[in-house]
Amino acid sequence: MIAVMRAAAVLLVLSSCTSAPATESEPPASQPAPVAALETPSEPEPEPARAPTQPKPAAEPETPNPVAVRINKKYEGADATDWEKRFERKGREVHDRQAAVLEALQIEPGSSVADVGVGSGLYTLAFAGAVGKTGTVFGVDVQDYFLDHVRNKAKKAGVDNVTFVKAEQRSANLDESTVDIIFMCDVFHHVEYPRTYLASLYAALKPGGRLAVIDFIAEEGTSKKWVLEHVRASPTEFRAEFEAAGFVFERAPELLEENFFHLYRKPE
Ligand SMILES: C[S@@+](CC[C@H](N)C(=O)[O-])C[C@H]1O[C@@H](n2cnc3c(N)ncnc32)[C@H](O)[C@@H]1O
Repeated sequence: MIAVMRAAAVLLVLSSCTSAPATESEPPASQPAPVAALETPSEPEPEPARAPTQPKPAAEPETPNPVAVRINKKYEGADATDWEKRFERKGREVHDRQAAVLEALQIEPGSSVADVGVGSGLYTLAFAGAVGKTGTVFGVDVQDYFLDHVRNKAKKAGVDNVTFVKAEQRSANLDESTVDIIFMCDVFHHVEYPRTYLASLYAALKPGGRLAVIDFIAEEGTSKKWVLEHVRASPTEFRAEFEAAGFVFERAPELLEENFFHLYRKPE
């Protein structure tokens, strides 16, 4: 009999050690709440510690485009007057058809236009005339010698509504929401970090502002070999990049043959 009672007692102790009561996490109303709960009654549950294998996803850092890096080497330590002979020559269609391009841009007096990648200033002084005395042109380039060259040209011509801006390969360095039209003529294929750069252009445009891009048509089967080696993407691929950056395609004036001409808008 004593042995039976001992066995029953052992069983009782064992069962109280292995199976917790169903209401263990909610103390009965009559019991005092745990001290910790009283001290921080309104604080949210602490975040569970993040496992080190689950870092917050970060945007992929952009790597420089190798074709753009290669073709930009020829601008290092170069001379603006040499380039001017090539940029402002008869037979270059963006030179010969400049009046038609300007007309398609419909620049309003008093507006602000950024000539991104001024080069020798083929379009810069024409824009200065189109925006008039009350407007502003931003002449933007990564090379100081091009900026100096166009600054001198503007001075000689008595043009005083151009502000010069030194760009970097990751940014045009224009202030946010300050520009009505951004114009890039044979420049975008030189941009080494296109995704990052496009974000800077998007930020610089005012809501409803426009991006006008002229660049070489590089298409397998139809374009010349030097163009295919020099320009990293086709017009369709470039368009996809602009749209991915948030620009809305509006139209493509049919004025040029070797270049595409795309007009985009930043939504209001
Ligand atoms: C082929 S030239 C075109 C110049 C001018 N737009 C024209 O059509 O005569 C390319 C110009 O883009 C400039 N450039 C290259 N990368 C640039 C960047 N990330 N931002 C601004 N300008 C850039 C070069 O220094 C050069 O002046």
